[in-house]
Amino acid sequence: CGIVGYVGARSVVDVVLDGLRRLEYRGYDSAGVALVYAPEGADSYLEFDKKAGKLANLEAVLAEQDRPLEAACGIGHTRWATHGVPSDRNAHPHLSADGRISLIHNGIIENFGQLRAELESAGIEFLSETDTEVAAHLLGREYAVDGDLTEAMTRVCSRLEGAFTLLAVAADDPDTVVGARRNSPLVVGLGDGEYFLASDVAAFIAYTTDAIELGQDQIVTISRESGIVVRGFDGQASEGKPFSVDWDIAAAEKGGFETFMAKEIHEQPQAVADTLRGRIDETGQIVLDEVRMSDQDFRDIDKVFIVACGTSYHAGLVTKYAIEHWTRIPCEVELASEFRYRDPVLDRSTLVVVISQSGETMDTLMALRHAKDQKARVLAISNTVGSTIPRESDAVLYTRAGIEVAVASTKAFLTQLAACYLVGLHLAQVRGIKYADEVSAILDELVAAPGKIAKVIENLEPVREMARASAGKDRVLFIGRHVGYPVALEGALKLKELAYLHAEGFAAGELKHGPISLIEDGTPVVAIVPSPRGRSLLHDKMISNIQEVKARGAKVIAICEEGDAITASHADFVIETPASPTLLAPLLTTVPLQEFAIELATALGRDIDQPRNLAKSVTVE
Ligand code: G6P
Repeated sequence: CGIVGYVGARSVVDVVLDGLRRLEYRGYDSAGVALVYAPEGADSYLEFDKKAGKLANLEAVLAEQDRPLEAACGIGHTRWATHGVPSDRNAHPHLSADGRISLIHNGIIENFGQLRAELESAGIEFLSETDTEVAAHLLGREYAVDGDLTEAMTRVCSRLEGAFTLLAVAADDPDTVVGARRNSPLVVGLGDGEYFLASDVAAFIAYTTDAIELGQDQIVTISRESGIVVRGFDGQASEGKPFSVDWDIAAAEKGGFETFMAKEIHEQPQAVADTLRGRIDETGQIVLDEVRMSDQDFRDIDKVFIVACGTSYHAGLVTKYAIEHWTRIPCEVELASEFRYRDPVLDRSTLVVVISQSGETMDTLMALRHAKDQKARVLAISNTVGSTIPRESDAVLYTRAGIEVAVASTKAFLTQLAACYLVGLHLAQVRGIKYADEVSAILDELVAAPGKIAKVIENLEPVREMARASAGKDRVLFIGRHVGYPVALEGALKLKELAYLHAEGFAAGELKHGPISLIEDGTPVVAIVPSPRGRSLLHDKMISNIQEVKARGAKVIAICEEGDAITASHADFVIETPASPTLLAPLLTTVPLQEFAIELATALGRDIDQPRNLAKSVTVE
């Protein structure tokens, strides 16, 4: 979910809606606002509106209303449903029983059943099926005790279990928005006499780039009169950590492209170049951003786990090949949601690399905490400065993709790959390199990658044609070997996310052990073909796999290296990418698959930037 709060001199409803628009990628099942008005010479009062569906539905409702007065403060919410179907009733904000307090929430209140029973037996009637409503009623009850919203919020938080960010306003207090966070994201934006609370900085970078990072279990109160006051759930005063946002607001606009995703695909050469910039010093050594580990700690590592979700997990799968090859340290890759529940073997000499674009994914955060509890070292790769995952890790390397708005990840993925390669090379360097020549050649190739990605992007028209030709099919399969296998998984994920089509990625060699039965006459199979140079054994095997599927009627679309005449002679269609070392090829071969998904989904009339049922940042487990 995305949440926004504002006090300041601007039009509150405009700031809140603008913030929600920029956070809509966090969820778009329903949206709502609560606004507090303070007319001169009369009592202040609270108004709220909420509507199922995309933000546009709420905007339409608000546009119909005639509210000449500007609100003094307000909060807004865009939802990704957990408890209760997306509906007007379940949309946030929720109100206290007396209607004087309004509250929004991101996360899951795990003990809501017990709290709801307690409140119902005290005669409170619930209007929704959400877990959130219990917090609204509790807050109303506590606020009635002393009329202090911050104190009331502190008492309420002591009763809640689970993960939550809460924002609340009170009809009687038009100059205050109170926020609280445990395990869910909340950042503070600091303007000139105006203050913002939001799930992430995207909500307010149009107004200020000065921000404050909150710690775990903290409450923040913003008001024009007292500014920003931060304290812990235990009542202890705290400061919060200031930081400055270097994301450009232009990045949050479509800039002439049809969709954010199309724009973000085109930003990839720059994003990868930005991620590499300044990270390789004059002597060819890799420099990490924040390291709370010594070189000796890195030398002591005898096992690496990479833990992530979704597209970030696919970046991890590619990295396994690179880390094991360059460092000879065993490396496992695991989905964050599985990792901690199966009791993995971790200790002080294990390095856990967590990859998270948002830095807030709850599954990944919980895996990180489990790793730290087991004394493992944690290195984060993240795109979001000020987010929780980098803050809780021992070392950080930031990808510099800039803000990614489309729900389906593109440039964040390529920059994760670039950052993962740097981490692999860093590990190799601090531990003494086995393949010194290869590593220095790889560094040169990495630096050349943005130019090659740009070449791939210039040449996407043939992919679009194939995508349109595949639009009537029931399914599309993706096959690859070595690092081409995770690329196949990512290509299939993109297509599932965008086109709502059955798409699956397979290790090409595994197909014959079962999935080949999915192939019918005309089934499109996208084959990610390794370079014919160097590891030509892999190439030969892939050609055999292409023949196997063709023999069963598949239409083969091959992504191969330029000049690969053998593949061209076997495939039905060929997309060429510039030559590259095998391990770095995913930086190039992924790009046509992104375009394939976008074009096929467009042909089916899908919503490219906001596919159904998804959210970009999932802060529940
Ligand atoms: C969500 C998004 C995916 C993303 C995954 C991990 O499910 O829809 O696109 O890959 O979360 O996100 P993270 O921010 O941790 O990289």
